[in-house]
Amino acid sequence: MTRTSPLLTLLLLLGLGCPSGQPNDDDATGDDDDATADDDDDDDDDDDDGAPTLDEQLAALIATLDDPPAALDPVTVDPALWALGQALFFDPILSGNKDVACATCHHPMHGTSDGLHITLGTGATGRGPERADAPHRPYVPRHSIDLFNRGDASVHTLFWDGKVEELEDGSIFTPAGTDPLPGIDGVLAAQAMIPVLDPLEMRGVPGDLAIDGTTNEIAAIPMNEHTTAWAALMDRLLAISEYVDLFEAAFPLLAEQDLTFAHAANAIAAYEAQTYSFTNSPWDQYLRGDTSALGDDQKLGALLFFGNAGCGNCHSGALLSDQLFHATGVPQLGPGKQPAAPFDWGREFLTSEAADHFAFRTPPLRNLTLSAPYMHDGSLTTLEHVVVHYSDPRRTAEVFDVNLLHPDLQGTLQQDPAHIADLVASLSSELPLDDQGGLTIGLNNLRSFLVSLTDPAAESLPDTLPQSVPSGLAVP
Ligand code: HEC
Ligand code: HEC
Repeated sequence: MTRTSPLLTLLLLLGLGCPSGQPNDDDATGDDDDATADDDDDDDDDDDDGAPTLDEQLAALIATLDDPPAALDPVTVDPALWALGQALFFDPILSGNKDVACATCHHPMHGTSDGLHITLGTGATGRGPERADAPHRPYVPRHSIDLFNRGDASVHTLFWDGKVEELEDGSIFTPAGTDPLPGIDGVLAAQAMIPVLDPLEMRGVPGDLAIDGTTNEIAAIPMNEHTTAWAALMDRLLAISEYVDLFEAAFPLLAEQDLTFAHAANAIAAYEAQTYSFTNSPWDQYLRGDTSALGDDQKLGALLFFGNAGCGNCHSGALLSDQLFHATGVPQLGPGKQPAAPFDWGREFLTSEAADHFAFRTPPLRNLTLSAPYMHDGSLTTLEHVVVHYSDPRRTAEVFDVNLLHPDLQGTLQQDPAHIADLVASLSSELPLDDQGGLTIGLNNLRSFLVSLTDPAAESLPDTLPQSVPSGLAVP
């Protein structure tokens, strides 16, 4: 997982990181917190020659952008709602077989993801990458995405293919229908209603026994009877007196019989929104006016990101996502999704538009260093791998080193020339591709900029883990 690809090694050896001879302390090992501690008296403060400083150049560039980057504001929620949400987020009681919680795949110790390429749900054991080494059921087709700052007011679209989305009329589209239950607070809450319905993620399959030996009554409910499945989960929760108390504190005006899974989902969303809101990365500090918060390499990276490298065409706004869909030629691995398996056509499943072939939602980039691997199938293992990919997507697929993948997945990598041609033909026109490899100039600075998006407070989240959960099941 941590091996450096031959192409990358070459780029690094060639020192192609510094377009104008700026400092570059890159060691290709991942997040280096000292990236800001370089000799920044060289450039910014010393403009005897009258040339604009990096800060002036960046401010001028940002002023030209339609959806400019911005610092994030913290999110705070009602403490009783948060407490209920925390319990639910960590409690495997929400899974049919009582073995998987939201936190299993979105773990605070794994950057709110799971460290796997593509995720493993019910039936697997262990935490993070160890889950792949235990006996397990088939892989879920996609990578577990991080949850940082998803409670920001600007978020209107969730999932790699945007299958949960707030529509223009304010209704919420989900795979379980539009506005599936009354009283859902927004897209983040609507999203929380979906994993519990998925047979591979949390529900299990008919005939399964839960880990306590009882029948999995959730999996026994027909797949299209969503409301019945959510009601059965509420029955489970309200049979536990601690949950009755937590719901009563969170929803003091509601009688027990009026509580639905929408209320549970609202609480989970409140928990996620506050706990994973991080607003103090060096980039936030810089945008709030502290020009010393970034090193010169990071400022040069930002100039490339929002300028010539074209990253900001899609990674725009406070979250660095336009929340739109683009094909970026990410190599395919894993089982894929029907009817295209072993491929995953992304957004095209929902829209049937040829323009959405292999298109995925632009992911937010906050706290990125904490949630490797990257992309919808976790195929790109490091930030270096990602930036090198953008310099030549065709090459990423062609020269992909399968040894970077868990042995279970090595045989699933798709490198057939016809598939690669299909991937390349679909590439978004907003990618500033350069066959001469011009983008390879500045890769290290781009990577340094991406590192500046991590709030140090997000790096260590053990105190967000509860000691126990109301069901008494093991906390993941
Ligand atoms: C088995 C692993 C697994 C479990 C359990 C799980 N998730 Fe996820 N989660 C994923 C994967 C994989 C995705 C991306 C799926 C896709 O986009 O098709 C995802 C996506 C999300 C997203 C979308 C984020 C974004 O920016 O698009 C949120 C929010 C989320 N999960 C929250 C939850 C909550 C809340 C629960 C519990 C009710 C939960 N997840 C349970 C694996 C899991
Ligand atoms: C055409 C729009 C577009 C452009 C331009 C673009 N990206 Fe992306 N980016 C995306 C999409 C879409 C994905 C998800 C692709 C997938 O998973 O298949 C993504 C994924 C990423 C990820 C992985 C995030 C994660 O959580 O897995 C990183 C990092 C990233 N891009 C950085 C960059 C950088 C750096 C540049 C400029 C060199 C750039 N992007 C240019 C659309 C774009």
